[in-house]
Amino acid sequence: MFSSHGRLASSLTVLLLAGATVADNARSRAEDAFKTLQGWYNPSTGLWDTAGWWNCANVMTVVADLALVEPSVMDNASYVFNNTLIMAPPQNPHPGPEVKVNSARDLSARVNQAVNASQWLDSAYDDDGWWALAWIAAYDVTEDNQYLQLAEGIFDGLTKAWGTRCSNGGIPWNPSNDYVNAITNELFLSTAAHLANRVPSQKDYYVDWAQREWNWFLAQGFIGENNTINDGLLDNCQNNGATVWSYNQGVVLGGLVELNKAAPNETYLETANTIAKAAIETLTDSNKVLHDSCEPDNCEPDATQFKGVFIRNLEMLQRASPHDIYKEVIINSADSIWNNDRNGQGQLGVDWAGPLHNPADATTHSCAMEALVAAISV
Ligand SMILES: *[C@@H]1O[C@H](CO)[C@@H](O)[C@H](O)[C@H]1NC(C)=O
Ligand SMILES: *[C@@H]1O[C@H](CO)[C@@H](O)[C@H](O)[C@H]1NC(C)=O
Ligand SMILES: *[C@@H]1O[C@H](CO)[C@@H](O)[C@H](O)[C@H]1NC(C)=O
Ligand SMILES: *[C@@H]1O[C@H](CO)[C@@H](O)[C@H](O)[C@H]1NC(C)=O
Ligand SMILES: *[C@@H]1O[C@H](CO)[C@@H](O)[C@H](O)[C@H]1NC(C)=O
Repeated sequence: MFSSHGRLASSLTVLLLAGATVADNARSRAEDAFKTLQGWYNPSTGLWDTAGWWNCANVMTVVADLALVEPSVMDNASYVFNNTLIMAPPQNPHPGPEVKVNSARDLSARVNQAVNASQWLDSAYDDDGWWALAWIAAYDVTEDNQYLQLAEGIFDGLTKAWGTRCSNGGIPWNPSNDYVNAITNELFLSTAAHLANRVPSQKDYYVDWAQREWNWFLAQGFIGENNTINDGLLDNCQNNGATVWSYNQGVVLGGLVELNKAAPNETYLETANTIAKAAIETLTDSNKVLHDSCEPDNCEPDATQFKGVFIRNLEMLQRASPHDIYKEVIINSADSIWNNDRNGQGQLGVDWAGPLHNPADATTHSCAMEALVAAISV
């Protein structure tokens, strides 16, 4: 009796220790990746060198995602959010004509206009959506209302683009190109749904926009025959059969998780699970490591960012509707990145199965870091 009890106790101890070691590894890997990431952070631009404007919204989001589960990086993350808020707007590559503050050298003018959304809008509506979600992520960790206010302002700017094509709905890609793509509309859905859960006084307004977008999205041909989402629509509003990118299977998942929280409807998580499983079937290799079809040579400068977006949103779905296969994709991708896709400086590359493919830059690194961060929580 005593000895078997003792054996049980000691094997429990071993199990607990093993669990703790795995978690510590995931944490220390992600923290290590954060230190490497900050080697690219440029305090005078508020952006990460080697990453473009929209990419940087995703880089900032991974910093927020880490801070949410790892309080020890909170001070560094808060510094980044504030500094980026003040310093980044002059880097906007296509600011609207009325944005005067962009040219102001005067720091106090910038501080005064910090939450003025017009500084963050550029000529691509998807870019605007990435920044809205990035500021929501910063709000989630800091509870600083100015970040939420900025996200609301950006969303308000996007609503003005609603409804010119395809059943008089949706958001086109940008003001001068009416290509209707999935990502812009998924971002609009996700931003509206996130805001519905964070701005109680305007909840109905944001739920209404999210549902309007989602019902429109379902009625168009974005979702192809294998339940994967193609890049966009033809001029006649039919599915254009273009590349099944990982990020297009991702943003929609987080959007539906948030919408289901704000206005429960069992179809939301059902559809999210169908899309997530189809994406895993289509985009992971035999080790359940995620890929995009551009690897390794043809992903820069945009598609190097995509897989992290999928993983971030898959992790949101895993929290709302857990499936072993989601956990497996997150863990296997993170392990493979760490073991096979890291150079001597700790920089992470584009092909998560490895070997490391140059360049490893702030886009490939932040993208892979998203998997290391997700692995902390699953
Ligand atoms: C975090 O902030 C401290 C203090 O400013 C700084 O020394 C350190 O390099 C920062 N770490 C990262 C990862 O940026
Ligand atoms: C925010 O960043 C700006 C620019 O670096 C700086 O001048 C200001 O002191 C920072 N504010 C806080 C509260 O850290
Ligand atoms: C926001 O910035 C735009 C462009 O500089 C300006 O026209 C507008 O008045 C600003 N809004 C506020 C509330 O300051
Ligand atoms: C659907 O999956 C089948 C089998 O993997 C594949 O041959 C086909 O090309 C896929 N269709 C699309 C539109 O991706
Ligand atoms: C649930 O969502 C689906 C898809 O948007 C919609 O068709 C259906 O009417 C919704 N059900 C309810 C009860 O609102």
